[in-house]
Amino acid sequence: MYYKINLNNYKPKKTRIYLEFDKYKFSPYQLEAINNELNNFQDSFGKPWKEWDMSDLKHRLENNFTFYLIGNGKTGELILEGWAFIDWNRQYPYLCNRYVCPDFRNNGLGQDLVWLRCNEIKRQGYDNAMIKLEDWNTPANSVMKENIFTKMD
Ligand SMILES: CC(C)(COP(=O)(O)OP(=O)(O)OC[C@H]1O[C@@H](n2cnc3c(N)ncnc32)[C@H](O)[C@@H]1OP(=O)(O)O)[C@@H](O)C(=O)NCCC(=O)NCCS
Repeated sequence: MYYKINLNNYKPKKTRIYLEFDKYKFSPYQLEAINNELNNFQDSFGKPWKEWDMSDLKHRLENNFTFYLIGNGKTGELILEGWAFIDWNRQYPYLCNRYVCPDFRNNGLGQDLVWLRCNEIKRQGYDNAMIKLEDWNTPANSVMKENIFTKMD
């Protein structure tokens, strides 16, 4: 189900620090960490799943998407915590492919990944965004505690 997000009265929220990419310019460590995580991708209930791949990442960043990455680590390694995209080509900026690495789940990062993109979309002057939230995906739906989501037809 697609939801419209009303950002008219939205006040930017404080979130974890993140990296933002609007070009395919990653360090080898970043690419390796993303690729490893994609190969071990687990859905919200721990089932393996293939969502997108490295060629999609390149294609998207050449076609008006932004990629947000959360992680930490010293030079020479990256401990990846999560990621998400905004697709700027839709009717409203579209929040898609939110992912929290299994070890970092249930600590609010999944919600942060929504709010940091809403912050960015609002900052760019939009009053609406959209997101797909499946009924079965209860961990993903926790974000709807905020009263700014309405079902789209
Ligand atoms: C959906 C996802 C991003 C959530 O990440 P997260 O960091 O665990 O999210 P948060 O910690 O912000 O919130 C998790 C919520 O799910 C709840 N939850 C956790 N396990 C649950 C379960 N088995 N059943 C129901 N709810 C559950 C938590 O209690 C929490 O809700 P609360 O804040 O009301 O207590 C993560 O599970 C994931 O990457 N899933 C695979 C990809 C995906 O489905 N993306 C969503 C696309 S919109």
